[in-house]
Amino acid sequence: MSGNSNIIEYIKKTPKTELHLHIEGTLEPNLMFELARKNKISIPYKSIEEVKSAYNFNNLDSFLNIYYQGTKVLITEQDFFDLTWAYVLKCKKDNIVHTEIFFDPQAHVDRGIDFNTVINGIFKALKKAKDEFNITSNIIMCFLRHLDEDSGFKILDKALNHKDKIIGVGLDSSEIGNPPKKFERLFKKAIEEGFLTVAHAGEEGPTEYIWEAINLLKVKRIDHGVQCLKDEKLVEKLKQIQIPLTVCPLSNVKLCVFNKLEKHNLKEILKKGLMVMVNSDDPAYFGGYLNDNLIKIQSALNLNMNEVKTLLINSFKSSFLSENEKNNWISKL
Ligand code: HPA
Ligand code: ZN
Repeated sequence: MSGNSNIIEYIKKTPKTELHLHIEGTLEPNLMFELARKNKISIPYKSIEEVKSAYNFNNLDSFLNIYYQGTKVLITEQDFFDLTWAYVLKCKKDNIVHTEIFFDPQAHVDRGIDFNTVINGIFKALKKAKDEFNITSNIIMCFLRHLDEDSGFKILDKALNHKDKIIGVGLDSSEIGNPPKKFERLFKKAIEEGFLTVAHAGEEGPTEYIWEAINLLKVKRIDHGVQCLKDEKLVEKLKQIQIPLTVCPLSNVKLCVFNKLEKHNLKEILKKGLMVMVNSDDPAYFGGYLNDNLIKIQSALNLNMNEVKTLLINSFKSSFLSENEKNNWISKL
């Protein structure tokens, strides 16, 4: 076997964690069509081929328009269950043993869907994943940063009834012009209520947003963070505190953060000793689930076995699993 096929086999068969995944971003075109038909929601596509050809993005916002449009087919608890269960089956296929997923309740509540409908559908599918496949999970509720902080407070209030299901809060959607500092009071309240915090920062936005996420939102992880190399002091800080960066290679290319996978800075980030790992973000839209992301970035950057192993270990280390659970999995790698 060549070196590369060894590494590919290793990626496929090793137990893995995923830490940056939007459950609404796993809505595959076939399920989108099925739900649109069932719920009598009109979608602007005639065929699955037409959907796929619409998935050409030139930045984050051009993707988000299509992503929010897709969410409109999700109406009932069963729809959220089916969406999540389809992702669980992908986890099983990719040998993901633990996943921490985002959901965007404001995208649903603001079109009249009850918060309970959303969270219960997602939670029941994850419970079944544990019962049937022993796949563990955590749920992170994201605030939409293009909306105002008041809307965030209202959704946080609804989440208080579901503290048993939601481990933390995050920040996603349109980054530029919506800095973390816009949500400082909201995150303070979330922390007081016992939620862990994470935030998308430095996906396409400036390095100041990464500083703000750390200093003002007190995040445990930065989602994306790939812009960090533009600021030497920030790189020093990230190295010193080992705050994880949940990097998503196929997403970054689809949204034109890097013009091709070979230009991705993941290897450079690794070499600087930062706590980084690979994730799939919105795999139904970006052309691949976790194993695809790992296999394609390994090949594009010619990552060696040690580098791949570091990425997989970092993912367990950066998760919200207990120290015992982390060590148990890491010992198996
Ligand atoms: N970035 C910001 N917001 C998002 C993303 C993303 O990659 N996916 C879904 N919401
Ligand atoms: Zn994301």
